[in-house]
Amino acid sequence: MKGPVLLLCLGLLGGVALAQGQGDALQRGQAVFEDHCAQCHRTNGAGLPATFPALNKNPFVLGEPSPVIATVLKGRKGNLGRMPGWKDKLDDQQIAAVVTYLRQAWSNRAAPVTPAMVAATRGK
Ligand code: HEC
Repeated sequence: MKGPVLLLCLGLLGGVALAQGQGDALQRGQAVFEDHCAQCHRTNGAGLPATFPALNKNPFVLGEPSPVIATVLKGRKGNLGRMPGWKDKLDDQQIAAVVTYLRQAWSNRAAPVTPAMVAATRGK
């Protein structure tokens, strides 16, 4: 009788650990966002009209991941102004976490980004 109970417990623990692993990545992304991005894009991702673009419900943020990664790495000068590049300030892990956060925070639901994807875009 003990064996199945033990297996069930291990299975439950494994499930909890997996869920926590995903939660940790999102939490790290949120911390990077609040430290480095929220001053312009706002904690709620809404930006400021005509000054800082909203990232919530933004089709660019939800679309192909590599242009989003490239924008965060290199920064951008456009109609609204200039965003600094983050390639020298944030490592691949931090950029993957923050881009995953952008794609999954607020109302956004898009696939996560891995550090390997950031490294590949950085190398281009
Ligand atoms: C000093 C203000 C500022 C900070 C800090 C900042 N951004 Fe930006 N960001 C901008 C501006 C301004 C633009 C738009 C530039 C343009 O195209 O006119 C922008 C554009 C973007 C875009 C593209 C949005 C689109 O619709 O094309 C993304 C994605 C983005 N920022 C993510 C980030 C992330 C992630 C961080 C933190 C690591 C960050 N930003 C920090 C000002 C900022």
